[in-house]
Amino acid sequence: MKATAKAPANIAFIKYWGKKDEKLRLPANDSISMNLSNVFTITTVEFSEKIKKDIIIMDEHKFDEKEEKRISSHLDLIRDLARFKSFARVKTKNNFPKGSGIASSASGFAALTMAGVAAAGLKLNEKHLSIIARQGSGSACRSIPDGFVEWKSGTSSNNSYAHMIFPPNWWKIIDVLVIVEKKTKKVSSSEGHILTASSPFYKSRISGIKNKLTVIKKAILDRDFEIFGTILEGEAINMHAVMMTSTPPIFYWTPVTFELILTVRGWREEGILVYFTIDAGANVHLICQEKDKQKVIGCLKGMKGIKEVILNQPAIGTRLINKHLF
Ligand code: DP6
Repeated sequence: MKATAKAPANIAFIKYWGKKDEKLRLPANDSISMNLSNVFTITTVEFSEKIKKDIIIMDEHKFDEKEEKRISSHLDLIRDLARFKSFARVKTKNNFPKGSGIASSASGFAALTMAGVAAAGLKLNEKHLSIIARQGSGSACRSIPDGFVEWKSGTSSNNSYAHMIFPPNWWKIIDVLVIVEKKTKKVSSSEGHILTASSPFYKSRISGIKNKLTVIKKAILDRDFEIFGTILEGEAINMHAVMMTSTPPIFYWTPVTFELILTVRGWREEGILVYFTIDAGANVHLICQEKDKQKVIGCLKGMKGIKEVILNQPAIGTRLINKHLF
């Protein structure tokens, strides 16, 4: 059977950076994110007894050997569950640059999980799909449920999964995703996670996370944008401080990233309520309310170094679709 899934990328408000179990991808802390409406992956999977190995094709960029192995290992999880050994034909496409810190592994492994599970003839609930997606890429577990999502770190594979905390239409906030770098980043998130413990600030980061989770959840519940934005920005800076102080240090920002950070603060002083967050990459997510969207877009016009701007609103999670890629 052939199946196709469409999965959104997600932006983390409270980040996953550091794991307590490397292999199972159990995170050191809980995290909270929002699915994005206009950055997504579509993946078609078909298992066949006629092929002698997994055939994995991606539009535009090719996967390297390491990535192919990671995808095949993920398919193994599904094959084990379905109790068969057939190889798979996989075709996938992103509508955004891969490996540039726009959560391509999140949408990628969420789509691969849902399409793979359906193609294997399995019927699994959302929790189980999230658990499988997590093992491909941690943040992928958050792209399975709808809307605003929380990933409880858990104590074992069976209780480390994501669930919706608010539906997409709960709050009309906008993610103005500013692409300043389309190249693949030099240090992958998976490599970065391993270095976290070497930062002298990592312990203090972890000890402050619980409170941030509580405050930001309440801010989303109350739709209190200023409290939400203040936590959001502080959290991104905190994670990047850990990255920059790891051994060896990781610098994901470019000069344009930093210029945007400083500029956003200036815009706020002028009364435009907008806050930034940044994942493991150079690209900047500017989060604002619907009413300020046009102002933010206007402010970005004419800024040097911006390659593309993608507008997102809170979105549904991963779904099967009927239009196959092959
Ligand atoms: C900075 O999920 O990409 O985007 O589990 O090793 O695949 P792996 O890591 P990944 O890490 C995401 C890191 C982050 C923060 C976040 O999305 O929470």
